[in-house]
Parts: sequence; C-alpha cells; structure tokens
Amino acid sequence: MVKTLSKSRSSGKIFLKFFLIFLIVSSTTNVGAQEKHSQKGAPEPDLKVGERLYYGLISTGEDAKACASCHTYYTSDTINWNPSALEMAQVAADMDLATFKSHLLTPSGAMREKVHINYELTDEQLFNLHGYLTELADSGVPQKKMSINTILIFLLLGVLMAVALVDIFFTKKIKFKLIHILIIMAGLAYQGKVIAHTLIDFGRSPDYMPDQPIKFSHKVHAQDNQIDCNYCHYNAQHGKSAGIPSAGLCMNCHMVVRNGTNSGQFEIAKIVDAYENNNDIEWIRIHNLPDHVYFNHSQHVNAGQLDCAECHGTVEEMHILKQENDLSMGWCLDCHKKTNVNFRDNDYYKTFEALHKDIQEGALDSIKAADVGANDCMNCHH
Ligand code: HEC
Ligand code: HEC
Ligand code: HEC
Ligand code: HEC
Ligand code: HEC
Ligand code: HEC
Repeated sequence: MVKTLSKSRSSGKIFLKFFLIFLIVSSTTNVGAQEKHSQKGAPEPDLKVGERLYYGLISTGEDAKACASCHTYYTSDTINWNPSALEMAQVAADMDLATFKSHLLTPSGAMREKVHINYELTDEQLFNLHGYLTELADSGVPQKKMSINTILIFLLLGVLMAVALVDIFFTKKIKFKLIHILIIMAGLAYQGKVIAHTLIDFGRSPDYMPDQPIKFSHKVHAQDNQIDCNYCHYNAQHGKSAGIPSAGLCMNCHMVVRNGTNSGQFEIAKIVDAYENNNDIEWIRIHNLPDHVYFNHSQHVNAGQLDCAECHGTVEEMHILKQENDLSMGWCLDCHKKTNVNFRDNDYYKTFEALHKDIQEGALDSIKAADVGANDCMNCHH
C-alpha cells in the first residue's frame, strides 16, 4: 500500500515536471529580441529596457500611457485607429533619434498633440526605446503567447487529469469512476478549446480576417460623409465586377483631406505615398466566388435594379467590411425564385413570348428571375 502510494506520487510528479517543462519551453521560445547589427565602438541600445519602456513596465512619465496600449501587436474584430505596433515601428525605424524624440516629447499635428502627451523620457531611454522599435520593425511581431491565466488553468486541469488517471489505475482512492471521467472530459474540452483558439490566433483558420493595408472605413465615407457607393464602385453599373478604387481616385479628396478625425495623418499618408510612388494599394479581397461561377454586377444593379444592400448588407455602418451572405448556390437560387423582374418595359425579355401572353391573359401576375432563366445551370456555370 505504502509502496503504491509513493509510486503514484512520483508518477504525479513526473506529470507535473513534464507540464512545467512544456510551459517553460513554450513561453521562452518567442522572446526573440536578439542583438544583431553590432557596430564596433558605437553604443548599443538595451533592447530589454526598450521593451519594458514600450509596455510601460518602466515609467515613461507620470500619467503617461504605455505605447503598447495604443500601438498593439495583434489585430482585433473592432477597429483600432492607432497605427499597429509593427507599422509604427517601421516608421520609427526610419527616423533619426532627434525626430523620434520630437514626435514623443514635442509632437506637432492635431492627433499627435492629443495622443503623445505626458512623456518624460531621458535621451538614454529614448535611445533604448528606439532600438527596441528598430528591432521590432526588423524581426516582425512575435507569435501570440497564451495569457498567464489560460496557462494556469491549462496547467491546473492537466494536473487534475493526471491525478484522476493515477487514481483510476494506481491509488484507487475515489470509488466513483464517474468523477474521474468528468474531470478528464472537462479537462480535454477546455484544453481542446484553448488549442483551437491558439490556432485561430495564428491565422490558420478560415475565420481569420487579416487587416487591410489602410484602415479604410465605409462608415466614415458612405455614412458620415455621404459618399455614394457608385462614386468609388462605378464599375458595378456597367461591368461584371464592382472594382476597388485606385489610389488616384482616393486622391481626388485626399489631395486636400490629410487629417482623419480618428486616425490622424498616419493612414492617409499611406495613400499619398502609394500615389506618389505609383504603387498599388494591396487590398485584401473579401468576397470571392469560385472560378466556375459567373456573376455579373451590372446585370443585378442596372438591369435588375437591386440595391447593393440586398446582397452586401448595411455596408455604410461598417468600419471593417464583413461579408454579409455566404454566396452559396442556394443563396443565389432562393433570391431568383422570389424576386420579380421588370418584365414589361425591358427589351431584354422580348423573346419570352409565352410568358408575355400569360401576363396579358392574367394567368401570371408577376415574373420571377427564375422564370426567365436565372436558375438555368448554364447561366452561372459557363
Ligand atoms: C493614446 C494612444 C497612443 C499612445 C499611448 C502612443 N501613441 Fe504613438 N501614435 C498614436 C497615433 C494615433 C498616431 C498617429 C498620429 C498621426 O499620424 O497623426 C501615432 C503615431 C506614432 C508614430 C508615427 C509618427 C508619425 O508621424 O508617423 C510613432 C513613431 C509613435 N506613434 C510612437 C509611439 C511611442 C514610442 C509611444 C510610447 C512612448 C506611443 N507612440 C504612444 C497613438 C498613440
Ligand atoms: C470612398 C470610396 C468608397 C465608397 C464611397 C464605397 N466603397 Fe466599398 N470599398 C472601397 C474600398 C477602398 C474597398 C476595399 C477595402 C475594404 O474592403 O474595406 C471597398 C470594398 C467594398 C466591398 C468588399 C470588396 C471585397 O473585397 O469583397 C464591398 C462589398 C463594398 N465595398 C461595397 C460598398 C457599398 C455597398 C458602398 C456604399 C454603401 C461602398 N462600398 C462605398 C471604397 C469605397
Ligand atoms: C469623395 C471624397 C473622398 C474619397 C474619394 C476618399 N475619401 Fe477618405 N475621407 C474623406 C473624408 C471627407 C474623410 C474624413 C476626414 C475627417 O475625419 O475629417 C476621409 C477620411 C479618410 C480616412 C481617415 C478616417 C479617420 O476618421 O481617421 C482614411 C484612412 C481614408 N479616408 C482613406 C481613403 C481611401 C483609402 C480612399 C480611396 C479608396 C478614400 N479615402 C477616398 C473623403 C474621401
Ligand atoms: C437579392 C437577389 C439576388 C441574388 C442574391 C442573386 N441574384 Fe442573380 N438575379 C437577380 C435578379 C432580380 C435577376 C434578374 C435581373 C434582370 O432583370 O435582368 C438576376 C439575374 C441573374 C442572372 C441573369 C439571368 C439571365 O436571364 O441572363 C444571372 C446569371 C445571375 N442572376 C446570377 C447570380 C449568381 C451567380 C448569384 C449568386 C452568387 C446571384 N445571381 C444572386 C437577383 C439576385
Ligand atoms: C445580387 C447580389 C449583389 C448585388 C445587388 C451587389 N453585389 Fe457586389 N458582389 C456580389 C457577389 C456575389 C460578389 C462576389 C463576386 C465574385 O467573387 O466574382 C460581389 C463582389 C463585390 C465587390 C468585390 C470586388 C468586385 O469587383 O467584385 C465589390 C466592391 C462589390 N461587390 C460592391 C457592390 C456595390 C457597390 C453594389 C451596389 C452598387 C453591389 N456590389 C451590388 C453580389 C452583389
Ligand atoms: C444563380 C446561379 C447558379 C445557378 C443557376 C446554378 N449554380 Fe451551381 N453554383 C453556384 C454558386 C454560386 C456555386 C458556388 C457555391 C460555393 O462556393 O459555395 C455553385 C456551385 C456548384 C457546384 C459545385 C458544388 C460545390 O460544392 O462547390 C456544382 C456541381 C453546381 N454548382 C452545379 C449546378 C447545376 C447542375 C446547376 C443547374 C441545376 C447549377 N449549379 C445552377 C451558382 C449557380
């Protein structure tokens, strides 16, 4: 009896050790602020100190906010108007120390004057902070780590599960096997969920929505400033696709409008930069039908007189554009079965003599899109 107990205790310890090693390994593999670029003679920034300043772990001034609270590493579902940590670091890396200092201690520009306040940083601290940002711009944002709480619960459940297993096979202290099973099931469910979420955070899941290269908001443009959809997506009226406007079209207004209420100069400066250097803005496409399906915008918005919102929802309320419908075959067919077409006044439908006759004789009071061939396989699958 004594023997089995100590045996089980030691196997419990092995489990515990195993978990601790796993945790230590997984939490240290990513702290990769290595010191590269050593130049002989020149002073080296202390990157660790720079990182702590960035997170506000070392005071950057009384009432000063941590850089990391605005310039975040990771994207979220709701819009964060501040430049992301990486984009900000890329701009900072190109600045000399004097410019960097003035942006933080004596900022100019409406937005910078509002956000970069209360900083009290010595030249040495600025040097270390700048060094950290230069390194960040170079090596990119590290992979997401689990939060301490998640890790602790993960660990605790691991230990509980281990103990439950040990008790089933060795110690046999608790008679009701159901308790063991419940503990193990709850543990597995939680750990499975944590692993799934971690995978989503790493961008391996289809739900993952990457950030657009510029924080373009439909709400700011189509609602707050009442710009018509067709001003930017004019192609929808005449062509197959609606098209995304070029930087040149943005410049019609942003030649003058250089300051955003929410984002300051940072995002709009990217348009000017793309325009002046003749670069395309690499918008990430959201709606995408498979290649074997043919869809034509002008057929729907021009001939069919449909509103954009019927298919895309209330785009004018979105800061971050989301796909509203699943674009499945069933979705197309359903709408064709229930939506009327303007049959009488459209030359396009002259050839449907039988239907015209039915309408005239009152046998039909309306013609749906499906009645005029919208649901024939060949119309969508050429
Ligand atoms: C309250 C939010 C906030 C905090 C805190 C903050 N920033 Fe910023 N930062 C901004 C915004 C917003 C901009 C864009 C301003 C603009 O372009 O008008 C910006 C711009 C910048 C830029 C780019 C400057 C430029 O002109 O393009 C740098 C570099 C920068 N921040 C560094 C820092 C550092 C370093 C810290 C911490 C010491 C920090 N920021 C703290 C919001 C913040
Ligand atoms: C000022 C120009 C502008 C206006 C006005 C505008 N858009 Fe856009 N639209 C864009 C840009 C730029 C993108 C690409 C960035 C994005 O997806 O947010 C886009 C993307 C889209 C997309 C997604 C494209 C994709 O990748 O699948 C849809 C749908 C869309 N717009 C619909 C509308 C509708 C509906 C309106 C009117 C309520 C409208 N837009 C008004 C510029 C504009
Ligand atoms: C018809 C005029 C017009 C066009 C075209 C236009 N914009 Fe704007 N944009 C505005 C106005 C007005 C604002 C609001 C400025 C403010 O906040 O006072 C704005 C604001 C912005 C902002 C800052 C938002 C904020 O609140 O900080 C960004 C970023 C932006 N536009 C990007 C674009 C891009 C990208 C394009 C081209 C795809 C574009 N705009 C085309 C008029 C336009
Ligand atoms: C919100 C309703 C609606 C949705 C959703 C819809 N359609 Fe349509 N579609 C119509 C209407 C209305 C017409 C008839 C337009 C007209 O009057 O010519 C039409 C016509 C068509 C036609 C032309 C048929 C012909 O006679 O030549 C094709 C092809 C088509 N749709 C493809 C699609 C595809 C592909 C999808 C899905 C990706 C889709 N539609 C989704 C309403 C819709
Ligand atoms: C009948 C449904 C329907 C209507 C109405 C509709 N769209 Fe679309 N839209 C789609 C579908 C489906 C796609 C995906 C097309 C593809 O992947 O080939 C799409 C894609 C887009 C895109 C992505 C880029 C592109 O060139 O295709 C934009 C932008 C867009 N729509 C804007 C608009 C605007 C603006 C209107 C109103 C003027 C509008 N749409 C009306 C169904 C619709
Ligand atoms: C109104 C347009 C439309 C018509 C009509 C239509 N389809 Fe489709 N079909 C689609 C769309 C859109 C998809 C893509 C669905 C997706 O990606 O989820 C699709 C996908 C498919 C696929 C691939 C299935 C898959 O899971 O990817 C097949 C096979 C198919 N259609 C067969 C047909 C046949 C057979 C007919 C005639 C009875 C037909 N379709 C009529 C729009 C249409």
